[in-house]
Amino acid sequence: MAHLIAPSVLSCDFANIQRDVEMINNSEADWFHVDIMDGVFVPNISFGFPVIKAINKHANKPLDVHLMIVEPDKYIEEFAKAGADVLTVHYEACPHLHRTIQAIKAAGMKAGVALNPHTPVSLLEDVIEELDLVLIMSVNPGFGGQSFIQNACKKVAQTRLLIEKSGSQAKIEVDGGVNLQTGKLLLDAGADVLVAGSFVFNSDDPSSTVSALKSM
Ligand code: DX5
Ligand code: ZN
Repeated sequence: MAHLIAPSVLSCDFANIQRDVEMINNSEADWFHVDIMDGVFVPNISFGFPVIKAINKHANKPLDVHLMIVEPDKYIEEFAKAGADVLTVHYEACPHLHRTIQAIKAAGMKAGVALNPHTPVSLLEDVIEELDLVLIMSVNPGFGGQSFIQNACKKVAQTRLLIEKSGSQAKIEVDGGVNLQTGKLLLDAGADVLVAGSFVFNSDDPSSTVSALKSM
């Protein structure tokens, strides 16, 4: 299957959010990547439910919501209502991860788990069969525009092996510092979904940049 592209709206122009959503709608992008930061789990605050609902009103592609928050269980229903199609929580924020995954699915969404750069892939061994998505962070979460951590390629390959061994249907997504160069390395390592924020929105022609990422 061809890989998917998920532009991160964290890098869009928030004063022109509808314009940027339409750009993604009309591009070759597959998903909207929506980053939620709480200022506790990560040292930054992004946006909350009113903004997600506004994006969802105009978006004609699935919302891939990446929660960088503590205690995500409290808000699972609310994210479903706001329009999330895929809901990804961080391994590091979930002491009862299995329960959290079940709750996401019970709310009608696909369930993802994200791993920070220091968190080994092997920690997903006992939940991999339950997952729809594994998100490998290739930067420390919290900000767009950071440089790519090369070790992510090794982790993608390890995740691919784990998925094959377990028979899981999970997709592998990578987030942080993705461009044409790092994107190619990640696809070669076995990635299915590439998130790209600054590379898309800081380019002269964001829609063509999405096409370039899609046609790699
Ligand atoms: C970082 C976020 C990313 C961010 C990626 O914490 O999870 O989704 O928007 O931005 P770039 O592509 O600029 O690294
Ligand atoms: Zn993200």
